[in-house]
Amino acid sequence: MPAELVCFSERCRARYPVTEVIYNCPRCGGLLETAYPPAADADALRTLWRERRLSNAPLDQSGVWRYREFIPFLEDPAQVVTLREGNTPLLPAPRAARYAGLDAIVFKHQGFNPTGSFKDNGMTCGASQAVRLGMRRVACVSTGNTSASMAAYASAAGLEPIIFIPHGNIAYGKLAQALEYGARTFQVEANFDQILALVRTLADRLGIYLLNSINPFRIEGQKTIMAEMLDQRDWNPPDWVVLPGGNLGNTSAFGKGLRELHAMGLIRKMPKLAVIQAEGSAPFFTLTHTPGMQELDPVTHPETLATAIKIGDPVSWPKALHEVEASGGVVEKVSEQEIADAKAVIGASGVGCEPASAATLAGIRKLRAAGVMRADADVVAVLTGNVLKDPDYIYRYHTGQLDGPDGRRIEATFGNQPTVVPNDAGRIAALLEG
Ligand code: F0G
Repeated sequence: MPAELVCFSERCRARYPVTEVIYNCPRCGGLLETAYPPAADADALRTLWRERRLSNAPLDQSGVWRYREFIPFLEDPAQVVTLREGNTPLLPAPRAARYAGLDAIVFKHQGFNPTGSFKDNGMTCGASQAVRLGMRRVACVSTGNTSASMAAYASAAGLEPIIFIPHGNIAYGKLAQALEYGARTFQVEANFDQILALVRTLADRLGIYLLNSINPFRIEGQKTIMAEMLDQRDWNPPDWVVLPGGNLGNTSAFGKGLRELHAMGLIRKMPKLAVIQAEGSAPFFTLTHTPGMQELDPVTHPETLATAIKIGDPVSWPKALHEVEASGGVVEKVSEQEIADAKAVIGASGVGCEPASAATLAGIRKLRAAGVMRADADVVAVLTGNVLKDPDYIYRYHTGQLDGPDGRRIEATFGNQPTVVPNDAGRIAALLEG
């Protein structure tokens, strides 16, 4: 039995070949996921994956394709497009732990990826699938990181990347990447959710392959973030895996990955997922905290300075809901001030990240204060993007010029102002000694 696409809806479960160009179930409109025949013996996989770290072969050097038995949707390895993604570190951060009220915290820093975000883990798979399908053009709507990643992987594969972004609403570093990696870039006067509908229409009409996180192959690549994290921890699962939630693709990917690793016998315990949203863009929080609510109610005008997660109508919510519930996890939301302060603490820990990523630490602090997380909990927080993605935000925060979406000033609680000095050793020495 080869790999298949399966409808995620419990009532449908229709199956399709992985070579069909579909993003939703043609029968019921549900989300799709990939399914595989049972994998090899867990001990053999642990050894094989560890041995590949010594190899110079491009596929083995990729922190995604090293785990290829975990994502076996491709038959021909020659179709893989890799920029040696993954291979991201686990970084302990005692200062951040103290801030959150934990004994210890470890960050899995996806900002160390080739284009600076976790999207590269998924995009290597999405772009490889585009090559396999013989597509020439690929498209996405993005709050910035998906587009940066897609531009790089498509150009590396000789495909034409076409990008749609909300005009004026993405961080400069991300827009710059799309241009530099050679993507045709359209800045649309609409928000992320509106543009997604537009791009789906265009993709169907023009035969362009869609590489948003609705694409099930991207989710497969993002699963390997959990495989690599556990491999780095010698397959000892943490109590919690914490991540920011926007379109909820990553939540779906982590949950699916952990469930599959558990079923394969690679881990004995399931970590709990904690998904953190920004207060002004928190439809998933509302869904999970409103008794009796069955369906996600989209936020029409999502707001947050963490533009990566400024999404009001997350497409993957049914999968994400299933994963959070299956893991016994939680959903939390945090304010703009909490995100900004947590970000500065992550920076002052020598780690650094973009605003959306800092929602993790802010959320942990809140969950800790509420007693949901214990002080001695073993917590891995996933930092999704690199500190340099949004330098404008950083400068404004540290110089006391950062205003929230409602126009209210965000306090520079941990501000770090640069000092202008004359070219005078005596005066500078006096300042440093004072
Ligand atoms: N963190 C960062 C840095 C992101 O770029 C995103 C999503 C998320 C978190 C949320 O992940 O959507 O899987 O829940 N960025 C997308 C983009 C939407 O277009 O780059 P999610």
